[in-house]
Amino acid sequence: MEKLKNIAVFASGNGSNFQAIAEASIKGILKAELKLLVCDSPRAFVLSRAKKFKVQTFLINARDYPNKEDFEDEIIRNLKAEKIDLIVLAGFMRILSPYFIRQYENRIINIHPALLPSFKGAHAIKDAFDYGVKLTGVTVHFVDEKMDHGPIILQEALRVRDKDSLESLEEKIHKLEHKIYSQAINLFLSGRLRIRGRRVHKIIL
Ligand code: GRF
Repeated sequence: MEKLKNIAVFASGNGSNFQAIAEASIKGILKAELKLLVCDSPRAFVLSRAKKFKVQTFLINARDYPNKEDFEDEIIRNLKAEKIDLIVLAGFMRILSPYFIRQYENRIINIHPALLPSFKGAHAIKDAFDYGVKLTGVTVHFVDEKMDHGPIILQEALRVRDKDSLESLEEKIHKLEHKIYSQAINLFLSGRLRIRGRRVHKIIL
């Protein structure tokens, strides 16, 4: 049997996407081994989830390092030790430097709870809801040096109903995220994605 590729999830908070990825990996839906959680916040709930799923965790506090490069080097050392093939950002509340991104060029993906390029930033679901959009959704994209910007791998739209509240919309968005993130990871790991400028093509092998 072919060896599964190794992924690391980076998260800072709740970790519902981390959990969905861990569950998909156990069920064999995700064709990857979830090797490592990288977390930058000691109070994050994702830490309890990782414990429950027995996923190795690297907890790192930026304040323990004199500068961003040393902080990121320490993360990179851990990723290399675990031979990580793909970095999956899932609510990681920190901008990775161009230095870090170059080390894992086109091997870092992020999920965003809106249809990019609309509603970038940390409050996308609320911003879209307050704006009154009729359609919103979820985007999975490669990470480049600009925030919520890299080439798009997958997008799925969701209709906002008149009866939706912010809470019901959040719930629907998260459910959709949990479904499409594993799909995007599988696509990447199958080696079928080709980046052509801003476009990501799925080739047939
Ligand atoms: C998700 O909505 C994701 O799109 C965004 O951060 C949120 C993380 O949620 N980048 P969780 O921690 O996975 O529950």
